Amino acid sequence: MKILTSPSVLACDFLHLEDEIRRADAAGSDWLHCDVMDGMFVPNMSFGFDTIRAINTVSDLPLDVHMMTCVPQNYLDALKAAGADIVTIHNDIGLSEEELHEVLKNIHARGMKAAMSLKPKFPAETVFPFMDELDMVLIMTVEPGFGGQKFMPDMLDKIANVRRKANELGKDMDIQVDGGINAANAALAAAYGANVFVVGTASFRAPDMKVALDDVKKAAEEAYGKNL
Ligand code: DX5
Ligand code: ZN
Repeated sequence: MKILTSPSVLACDFLHLEDEIRRADAAGSDWLHCDVMDGMFVPNMSFGFDTIRAINTVSDLPLDVHMMTCVPQNYLDALKAAGADIVTIHNDIGLSEEELHEVLKNIHARGMKAAMSLKPKFPAETVFPFMDELDMVLIMTVEPGFGGQKFMPDMLDKIANVRRKANELGKDMDIQVDGGINAANAALAAAYGANVFVVGTASFRAPDMKVALDDVKKAAEEAYGKNL
């Protein structure tokens, strides 16, 4: 699997957003992870479509938008217009399985990639009914809502379970991890089958962002699949 990094804009210096996006670009980021929080789905608020649109004007990198919101399905046109390339919804937004399928279909209908995220309490099996339609599964390695938290090693088996299921289905899908990622635990997550690494604090707040991202990538490339 191709190993990718997706620095989380939430950890940048918002007073200098344009410079920060250019810095992430120059540091070799593969994607940019944009965390949208509504203060209801998670106990925090972040930024919305105008910010995503602004980011999109200064970068050609794919925008990976993590919707930590209660009704992401109401904002698919707004996401598309803002320049989102990948839209991640959570499974626990009060919709039936059928309705969730519909949201994923509607994301694709707008020409965006669709991903589903699981909070730590949801087992791998939760996402299995959606695997056919998903371009990516996001496994949270912290409780969503805040940057700067500690990676939860308990999530490793879940990563492996999703990767094994994807392999069984012959699906070359991306598995993303998000929360407290650094080079050391990226190696662990990669060994269990993750290939896309959201890096917030450990990238934007590192002394040298390029070195930090290169370290994550190299560690993950070396370890990928070893514990599968
Ligand atoms: C947390 C967000 C993360 C966060 C990651 O709810 O989904 O994307 O910004 O930041 P770090 O890497 O600092 O945990
Ligand atoms: Zn996120």
